[in-house]
Amino acid sequence: MADKEKPSIQDILAAARKQDGGGGAAPAAESAPTEAPKPAAKPAAPAKPGKMSVAEMLAAARSGDGGGASAEPAAPAAAKPAAASGAAKKPGQMSVAEMLAAARAESSGGEAAVKPAPAKKPAAAKAAPVAKEKEPVAEKHAGPKDTASILAAARSGAVKPGPITKAEAAARAAEAGAAAVKKKSAAPPMPSKPDYAKVAPAAAAAASTERRGFLVAATAIFAGTFFLTSSLAIGFSSLAVTTLLWVLGSARFMFPNILTEPPTKFKVGFPDEYAPGQVATKFIAQFGVWVVRYEYNGAPEIYALQSVCTHLGCTPNWLEGEQKFKCPCHGSGFYKDGINFEGPAPRPLERFAIRLADDGQLEVDKSRRFKEEVGQWNDPASFVSV
Ligand code: FES
Repeated sequence: MADKEKPSIQDILAAARKQDGGGGAAPAAESAPTEAPKPAAKPAAPAKPGKMSVAEMLAAARSGDGGGASAEPAAPAAAKPAAASGAAKKPGQMSVAEMLAAARAESSGGEAAVKPAPAKKPAAAKAAPVAKEKEPVAEKHAGPKDTASILAAARSGAVKPGPITKAEAAARAAEAGAAAVKKKSAAPPMPSKPDYAKVAPAAAAAASTERRGFLVAATAIFAGTFFLTSSLAIGFSSLAVTTLLWVLGSARFMFPNILTEPPTKFKVGFPDEYAPGQVATKFIAQFGVWVVRYEYNGAPEIYALQSVCTHLGCTPNWLEGEQKFKCPCHGSGFYKDGINFEGPAPRPLERFAIRLADDGQLEVDKSRRFKEEVGQWNDPASFVSV
């Protein structure tokens, strides 16, 4: 029975030639199953199947697979599945490699030497479990994997483990915060103070008095500091002003002095403006001069008397009612023409030079003085005849 079910090498080669489409197919190949895999045997093999050696069959198989040395390494690899499936598969369902492997096993005389290799899983069969394994993983890690969500999930033991979304993490954090606040607000009331810790009213009053005293002292210190600060400010301001004045005085010292005295020559009007016997006192304040129209030694004249007492230099007054000059200091008296007649004054008053100017006015020159006791009043420069 085993010989009938097991195809011989000739049958295998014939089936391979038939599948290869060669015209010289052996009659034995016609009896091969129609669903057999297409072996790559070359139909041009001249030897008969029953007389072919193993080397010839291999050469025929190599040439049928497309020939070349490149097909040779694939033969041992394919031998294992061929040998494994050789006992179960029919010749029409075997590939060329399987058939060659079976042929080698047969030629070597032992099928036991060929270890059945586990059948390779098809690609679709391999990919399917991987896809099945990946799908739950993808569903498992669908949510975000941020640290906050993982920590929130770990802290709240009531929730399901594993990563959660950000919204879930925020909701859980809010719930945890609300629970903490509620727990905190529900703290028990503080215990009442013992008697030894309570402050007596007298002690409280004393403490209040001490606080008021401290405030008063602090205010006094602040006021003293403010006063001291103000004093320093005043001192520094005074120093600054003094320094400024000193600088201004130094600057003034750098410039020449300006003559502030009144001019020595000045005009006192026309001679007709003076009535006979009149003493004009309107020039005393500005020039210290009396302009008098009177007579000296019987000659009418207009002259200018210096308003300085010949005693100690005081300024006499003209007394119109007494028609004399009276010194207020020691009582010396002078007549209208300037001759002294009472008091300690040792000599008459002095005259200034006077003349008629080009415009007809009387002009007094204080740079020249004339003394009566030395006869200078006779100098025409000391009077203007009228
Ligand atoms: Fe005029 Fe002495 S100063 S009387």
